Amino acid sequence: MPPVAESTLGVKADFPIFKRRFSGRELIYLDSGATAQKPQVVIDAQAEHLRNHNANVHRGVYALAQEADAAYDEARRRVAAFVGGDPRTTIFTKNVTEAINLLAYSWGRANVGPGDAVLITQMEHHANLVPWQVLCRERGAELRYLEVDERGELSLEQLDAELARGDVKLVAFAHVSNVLGTINPVAEITARARAAGAVSIVDGAQAVPQMPVDLAALGADFYAWTGHKAVGPTGIGVLHGSEALLERMEPFLTGGDMIASVDFQSVSWNELPYKFEAGTPPIAEAVGLAAAVDYLDGLGMDRVRTHERSLTAYMLERLAEVPGLRVVGPPEAERRGGLASFTVEGIHPHDVAELVDRGGVCIRAGHHCAQPLMRCLGVGATARASVGVYNEPSDIDALVQALQAGREIFEL
Ligand SMILES: Cc1ncc(COP(=O)(O)O)c(C=O)c1O
Repeated sequence: MPPVAESTLGVKADFPIFKRRFSGRELIYLDSGATAQKPQVVIDAQAEHLRNHNANVHRGVYALAQEADAAYDEARRRVAAFVGGDPRTTIFTKNVTEAINLLAYSWGRANVGPGDAVLITQMEHHANLVPWQVLCRERGAELRYLEVDERGELSLEQLDAELARGDVKLVAFAHVSNVLGTINPVAEITARARAAGAVSIVDGAQAVPQMPVDLAALGADFYAWTGHKAVGPTGIGVLHGSEALLERMEPFLTGGDMIASVDFQSVSWNELPYKFEAGTPPIAEAVGLAAAVDYLDGLGMDRVRTHERSLTAYMLERLAEVPGLRVVGPPEAERRGGLASFTVEGIHPHDVAELVDRGGVCIRAGHHCAQPLMRCLGVGATARASVGVYNEPSDIDALVQALQAGREIFEL
């Protein structure tokens, strides 16, 4: 494990929320897996756009409207470049949930039918599970799951066996699990899916904020993520897709902006990516997200990953000091993203979250939108601490101290 001193990027001061006090205490925020805090540059970029450049896009000929157009296009270019994507195949959605629903409707309803199977995993967030369940029910297809083993990992042998059945049309899975922290072998899975003639969809919600993502190297047909977890604004998600597949797909939502021409009884679709962006898009949010990815780029995603890995290693080491505490997911920080979900014997996870809140520490408790996974783990809920670029080892110390104090309150 790298020395603790390396586990800080020293950027807390970039995030104004950390100036706040709660009952006189500093904010110790360990819930970035739910949403990340925002640096001043993101807040400023969005405010500056609204203050000086606000107009609708793709409609006006006047100078202000053209500024808004340019800002929106430039935002798409920067967001696409952040993960090595092409702006033409980078679609802005409301969040990753909407991106996956777009795929379930536009790709799924046209390509999945009776006798087909959709393969997902037991570790999926509901966002990458419910749309496939609904699709399969509606289309008479089978929804099958790759199992999660006791280490919180998937098995490539099971994947091979499933694909060998010859009926899998789609493999959809998380890059990084929001509960187990597991980093899945994306390139291996997408290569196997492609060889078997299946389309691959990756939910990158937890990966993009904390590690370098290179779409070409990952080889997925579709890759989706969400702005607010990547120090960007809420209300914007991103879908990257294969041009050939996107071209063949029908739109998800219809209305303004996504058309080429409309007559009383007929319509033709706009070109990519606009075909999938019906109505006024999240313009100021796109500008904010571009500032967010610029900020992360400025830190360097390799450094961000190193930081989160060493902080996670430190977190695992310190959490092991708490009697009765069990962490789920891979034991090695190397194999996981920046989070630890855990149970504490004798204390319900919701009580754990409330007890540590008394120490000024924000963590999440519940099923983390992964109820089927909770059943596999044999628990109803877990507590989850997740780190971001601004966290420091002292935040983990505060969590462990608060957990120890909580055990005393429960007389454990
Ligand atoms: C792995 C994963 N997928 C999907 C989502 C859903 O994100 P959003 O609510 O921004 O659509 C989350 C959010 O917690 C997540 O962690």
